[in-house]
Amino acid sequence: MEQKKLKILIIGSGGREHAVGWKVAQSHRAGQIFFAPGNGGTQNLGVNVDIKATDIKRLLEFAKKEKIDLTLALPDDPLALGIVDEFMKQGLRIWGPTREAAELEWSKAFSKNFMRRHNLPTAKFEIFNNFEKAKAYAEARKMPIVIKASGLALGKGVIIAQTREEAVEALENMMIKKIFGASGEEVVIEEFMEGPEISIHAFSDGKSCKIFPASQDHKKIGENDTGPNTGGVGAIAPLPFVDKELFEIIENTIVAPAIKGLASDNTPFVGILYPGLMLTKDGPKLLEFNARFGDPEAQVYMRLMETDLLDVVNASIDGDLENQEIKWRNTNKQYCACNIVLCSAGYPGNYQKGKIISGIEEAEMQPDIVVFHAGTKTENGKLVTNGGRVLGVSAISNTLEEALKKAYKAIEKISFEGMQYRKDIGQKALGHSSSTGEALSLK
Ligand code: AMP
Ligand code: GLY
Repeated sequence: MEQKKLKILIIGSGGREHAVGWKVAQSHRAGQIFFAPGNGGTQNLGVNVDIKATDIKRLLEFAKKEKIDLTLALPDDPLALGIVDEFMKQGLRIWGPTREAAELEWSKAFSKNFMRRHNLPTAKFEIFNNFEKAKAYAEARKMPIVIKASGLALGKGVIIAQTREEAVEALENMMIKKIFGASGEEVVIEEFMEGPEISIHAFSDGKSCKIFPASQDHKKIGENDTGPNTGGVGAIAPLPFVDKELFEIIENTIVAPAIKGLASDNTPFVGILYPGLMLTKDGPKLLEFNARFGDPEAQVYMRLMETDLLDVVNASIDGDLENQEIKWRNTNKQYCACNIVLCSAGYPGNYQKGKIISGIEEAEMQPDIVVFHAGTKTENGKLVTNGGRVLGVSAISNTLEEALKKAYKAIEKISFEGMQYRKDIGQKALGHSSSTGEALSLK
């Protein structure tokens, strides 16, 4: 019997939301799709609704009025505000962690204590609410040292202090000047770690989990990882240097015990658990937990995932992940994907909006290319820039080199005033290994 088509609401407005919407639209269960607030790309997949991702009250009203069957809560802010709890209280079906389960992301202090309690590998740390005590502790440590605002700070709340002066300045900024508001009143001070950084994602239903191939984000705006941090300007998956053995260590010492720990703490985690890891010489260690899909990681994952996303989401909500097979694109050879983010001039600092964008259709006419919108909107019938991260150009191929080549070739078709992007996405990963993609972490 044909299953009922679902009316879907996707919350958020970035490249991640466009990519998830793109995948959802291919589902055998997808009916009408709404995006709140969406962007210039999501309007081609469904209907953009002018409600902010953090306006839980209006989102609830909308979901009830439209009789939405399933809501996907993707960004961190609404999760931290408890959107999942509020929807569930009203009997609405929503996918994502509760506010308590998402605390792993919105409080670094909570997250570090969780790691300690469940013996998960991470940097040594202490937590402070008192400036003088934090200062005394920091001054007594070996430099560099890492200082983190405990709360959400748009990816800007982590300072790597090379000297004692820098450490004290960071603590003053967070705890006295309160440049991150309440997010910096509590700080984590932790040991500096070194090694390549990778992103892990796993679907969880609260009891069990299904882990994705490993991916890597590129957080700095400049080539060779220079310049300020951004939300993420390029992603690749899977990673040539994460072999089966390392992948199993990550699964067995980090992901599975984290899901178990959350369940035993009475905060079962439903949604995507996304640990950020550093591959240190002593093994993989946790940098942080996120309680959602990464952006731009979601874009490469959506290109690689073969299984119907709504089947997995439903299994995750219903506690039935164990019986849900998840297939990654793999014909006679596996696939690799990349997503390269085109940014506005000035990003991640101040940037202008409203620049006319051209060439997306030509780019998408090239083989294996999908362009995901992030900061775009339509104005007087024209597509214009509307954010720092404007577009993500994604490509798939049997090797990472080929995927990157295709994406960079497609980018040549696209233009807007001030467009900037990194030319070296994936290069560091390729340098780690001469592997072209066969012996990787896809299972
Ligand atoms: P987080 O938000 O905790 O992931 O930190 C943001 C970035 O700061 C990470 O992607 C790392 O590049 C860096 N970082 C965080 N913690 C450490 C650490 N203990 N040692 C070295 N770098 C770190
Ligand atoms: N890719 C970084 C993030 O989504 O937090």
